[in-house]
Amino acid sequence: METTEMTRIPVQKTTASRLAETDFSDLRFGDKFADHMLEMRYTDGQWGEPSIRPYAPIQMTPAASILHYGQGVFEGMKAFRREDGRITIFRIDKHFERFNNSCKRLNIPEIPFEVFEQGLIQLVDLDREWIPKNKFKALYIRPFVIASDEYIGLNTSQNYRFFIISGPVGNYYREGINPIKLTTMPDYVRAVEGGVGFAKIPGNYAASLLPTHKAKEMGYTQVLWLDAKHRKYVEEVGSMNMFFVVDGKILTAPLSGTILPGVTRDCVIQLGKEWGIPVEERPVSIDELIEANKNGTLEEAFGSGTAAVISPVGLIHHKGYTITLDQDKMGPIAQRLYDTITSIHHGLEKDNHDWCTIV
Ligand SMILES: Cc1ncc(COP(=O)(O)O)c(C=O)c1O
Repeated sequence: METTEMTRIPVQKTTASRLAETDFSDLRFGDKFADHMLEMRYTDGQWGEPSIRPYAPIQMTPAASILHYGQGVFEGMKAFRREDGRITIFRIDKHFERFNNSCKRLNIPEIPFEVFEQGLIQLVDLDREWIPKNKFKALYIRPFVIASDEYIGLNTSQNYRFFIISGPVGNYYREGINPIKLTTMPDYVRAVEGGVGFAKIPGNYAASLLPTHKAKEMGYTQVLWLDAKHRKYVEEVGSMNMFFVVDGKILTAPLSGTILPGVTRDCVIQLGKEWGIPVEERPVSIDELIEANKNGTLEEAFGSGTAAVISPVGLIHHKGYTITLDQDKMGPIAQRLYDTITSIHHGLEKDNHDWCTIV
């Protein structure tokens, strides 16, 4: 991806790097943070100047709007270390587009593209030693914005703080790239039409925690969300979009406002079509999948997301019926997608789509 010109963001470097004491051999997901962070504040109707400083706790009034009404938005993206030592950030423009679409829905002022892009590039460059050298690991990047008015009346905030933090991560699921187990939870829904399902905002995730906890207690990895109206169309999983290969076709839920428009989902659809595999974005009911499982045409099920890339699904439970797929490995389409996308991340395959920004 070509980068736009912007003046360099001022940097205050850390004098106490935590890099040397960080154990890169035991990386989980989301519990380690790189040395620096970016902040930019919104006051008096405009965004101020961004700056980068050492990663540290932030001060906030206990009356800050974000703490009470959740007016905030976040993104999840990744940077990778290539074999030639160069660093790439994946699909900046697509994450930026989703970030601002989420902001619009929560009445938060949009972030200028130049700051988002330049902030990511400078921050990743500064903390490049934090990017793991292993192909299965990456630097996870978390841009986010929070409402910072000191006011506990329900109102659109007048003040905001935009941050970018990052940290090295390993596998998202305990299963690694082995098949995960899903269950529907027909008593709970994640999103409704006209609501906020398409936005990457804290409330969506907070509301998913109890059903996910229950699913885990029953031995499943995640909940497979069904649509709120009919409770039968498959939507997505906690942090992944869902795909099914039925009779040689790739099926996935449409972007009708209730699912997150996944960046990896977009890669899967583009690649699938380029490979000549029919891709159908349409409502897929759980009954259709059970039927396909019974008649032997359900070939694969997998999720897509920045955190897990492609994650095969080995089992889906729904109201006493269990769909079982290959329990031991990824199906051929999931494997091809996983290999292609991770090879593009790591510069082992040509980036024909201009998905990578080299730092
Ligand atoms: C609810 C939900 N669906 C799908 C995804 C996958 O989106 P992406 O591929 O952009 O990471 C995510 C992760 O961000 C998610 O949180």
